[in-house]
Amino acid sequence: MSTLGPVFESVVLRLIRAGADAPHLDAKWLLAHVLAIEPGEVATQSGRSVSAVDLARLDGLVAERGRGVPLAYLLGEWEFWSLPLFVTSDVLVPRPETELLVEWGSALLRDDPEPRIADIGTGSGCIAVALATMLPAATIDAVDLSTAALAVAARNVARHKLEDRVRLLEGDLLAPLADHPVYDLIVSNPPYITPGDPRLEANVAAHEPALALYDKEVGDGLGFYRRLLEAAPGRLFPRGSLLLELPEDGAATVRESAEARGFTVEMRRDLAGIERALLCQWNGFSGGTPS
Ligand SMILES: C[S@@+](CC[C@H](N)C(=O)[O-])C[C@H]1O[C@@H](n2cnc3c(N)ncnc32)[C@H](O)[C@@H]1O
Repeated sequence: MSTLGPVFESVVLRLIRAGADAPHLDAKWLLAHVLAIEPGEVATQSGRSVSAVDLARLDGLVAERGRGVPLAYLLGEWEFWSLPLFVTSDVLVPRPETELLVEWGSALLRDDPEPRIADIGTGSGCIAVALATMLPAATIDAVDLSTAALAVAARNVARHKLEDRVRLLEGDLLAPLADHPVYDLIVSNPPYITPGDPRLEANVAAHEPALALYDKEVGDGLGFYRRLLEAAPGRLFPRGSLLLELPEDGAATVRESAEARGFTVEMRRDLAGIERALLCQWNGFSGGTPS
């Protein structure tokens, strides 16, 4: 029978040899996952025994982590906006910088008695679930092209008991929203990588879903943004907004496209100082009547 302390050390060593960025953190989370304890208990329970069955399971997980499989996929869940969410390889792992959309979007609609929101490309449902928990009177339509991603989003919506306020729809951009035409806020974290882009980390490209990463149009990777900027005015109330996560080096292009289409724009940076989110406020009247 092995004990936790030495097992932890050997996992760290294997992960270091495999070139992991954060071997101690990975080892702690993987051990906690296998033993069904809190990560903080890994250090305090170092004398605890680890069964052969748990060792075998751990061995498989460490091997996968060594091959670069994201920790979130191995744990099966990940935290976003301090909310636990189910995550599988069918969805993008929610990123901390995306929380800026939740922070900004919920502040914008704080005083709205009945906000209507659409989340385009919902993936795990992270943005929709977080906005729904922040805005208890909001109704949210969350769209994705991926059936498999929507299945994960459905588990997260149910996990947080939001089935009555978050509706999941399958299809391209705003197309499935035909029966619910106008919104106060359309929010999106689009796919914006072009295949072969050197900025893309190898592990991300190898393990996260292509549909979540790549813009299908050939070109600068900003086709999703252009299509959304074109379609959104017809789906926004006057003074409604489109809130977009920005690609690191396409921010200026997206901003110019939004201005050219008649939006008033405001940009915010993330904690790393990177231009991360663009608020595009619609001033026209091609949308519906305010509720
Ligand atoms: C960058 S991921 C964002 C996922 C999630 N909102 C997040 O922030 O973690 C983009 C998502 O858009 C979806 N998607 C890609 N093309 C789409 C399209 N044409 N219409 C709707 N969803 C699409 C992908 O399946 C993926 O879930």
